[in-house]
Amino acid sequence: MSDILELYPVSLDEDNQALVILDQTRLPNETLLLSLREPAEIREAIAMLRVRGAPAIGIAAAMGLYVASLRIKADSREAFFAELASIKAFLAGARPTAVNLAWALNRMEQAAKAVGGESIPVIRQALHDEALRIQDEDAKVCRAIGEHGLTLIKDGDGILTHCNAGQLATSRYGTALAPIHLGAERGMNFHVFADETRPLLQGARLTACELTAHGIRTTLICDNMASQVMKNGWIQAVFVGADRIAANGDTANKIGTSGVAVLAKYYGIPFYVCAPLSTFDPSLNSGSQIPIEERAPTEITELWYEKRMAPAGIDVYNPAFDVTDHTLITAFVTERGIIRPDFGKRMASLFS
Ligand code: MRU
Repeated sequence: MSDILELYPVSLDEDNQALVILDQTRLPNETLLLSLREPAEIREAIAMLRVRGAPAIGIAAAMGLYVASLRIKADSREAFFAELASIKAFLAGARPTAVNLAWALNRMEQAAKAVGGESIPVIRQALHDEALRIQDEDAKVCRAIGEHGLTLIKDGDGILTHCNAGQLATSRYGTALAPIHLGAERGMNFHVFADETRPLLQGARLTACELTAHGIRTTLICDNMASQVMKNGWIQAVFVGADRIAANGDTANKIGTSGVAVLAKYYGIPFYVCAPLSTFDPSLNSGSQIPIEERAPTEITELWYEKRMAPAGIDVYNPAFDVTDHTLITAFVTERGIIRPDFGKRMASLFS
C-alpha cells in the first residue's frame, strides 16, 4: 500500500475541469480515483463517505462548487449567483455534523461575491483560486497542529486514536495523526493503537493503512478493547479529531469517541482533541445543539457480511457521531496553539 503515500483524498484534475476523489470506501483493497463533475455525483461522494473527514469534506465541497460552477449557464451575475446558491445548498445537505462543509461553502460564496463586475469567467476563476487556497491552508494548519501536538508526547509513547483523522481526512498530515506523522518524520517512534471504529471501520481500513504505509508501529484493536489496553498501561495519550466543537468545548466526533474519553478519564490518561479553527462553531452554546447524522441500519446489519448478521426487520440505531462532554477533554490542539480549560472563556477570546 505504499502508493497511498502519494495520494491525496481530494484534488482537481489537470485541466481544472473535474473534482478527483480517492474513493475511501474501496480502501485498503483498491486504489480508485473518481472524476466528478455533476453536483449530484459530488454530493453522493460526500454522503457515501467516498471522501470523508471534516477538513477533506470541506475541501471536496469547495472544489466541487467550483467544478459545478463551470456548468452554470447564466447570462447575468444575478442569474449565476442564484444558481450557485442552489448548488451550494444542495452540497451543504450532504452531511450535517461536520461544520467544515458549510464553512468552506460559505467561504467560496464570499470569495465569488467579492469579485466586482459582470464577468462570469472572472468569478469562476475566483472560485477556483479560493478552493485551492482552502486546500493549501489546510495543509499548513495541519502541520501547525502537528507541531503543537508534538509538544504533548515523547518518543516511545503509546497513543490511542479513534476513527481516521489523518492525511486521508485532510489535505496533508491530518489533525489527530499530525503529531505522529511529524514525529515519525523526525525519527521519533510512537506505538499507535487504532480503534477499528465500527460500523464503517475507518480505523481498520484507513488509519491502520495510512500509518503502516508511513512505517509507524500500529496495533489494530476492536473498539471494545480500549479499556484493556489502557489498563495494561500501554497508552500515554489519546488523540482524536473533531467534526464540530461548540462554544463550551463539547465536541462531536466519530461515534465511540465519547466512550474513549470516559475511559481515558477513568485511567488518568490525557485526552486531546486536535482540530483546525474551522471546526469550531461558536454559534452553538453546547454540544446538545450539534446536529448528529443518523445513517442507514444496513451499515450495521449487513454491510461487511456475506449474510445478514441480525434478524431481518430488527430496529437499529446508527448515529455517525457522538458528543464528548468538554469536562472529559484535557486540551484542544489547534493551529494557534493548545487550548486548556476554561474552554468557554478561552474560545470566546479566540473568536472575538
Ligand atoms: O464519518 P467520517 O469518517 O467522516 O468521520 C470522521 C471523523 O469523525 C473524524 O475524526 C473527523 O472528521 C476529523 S478528520 C480530521
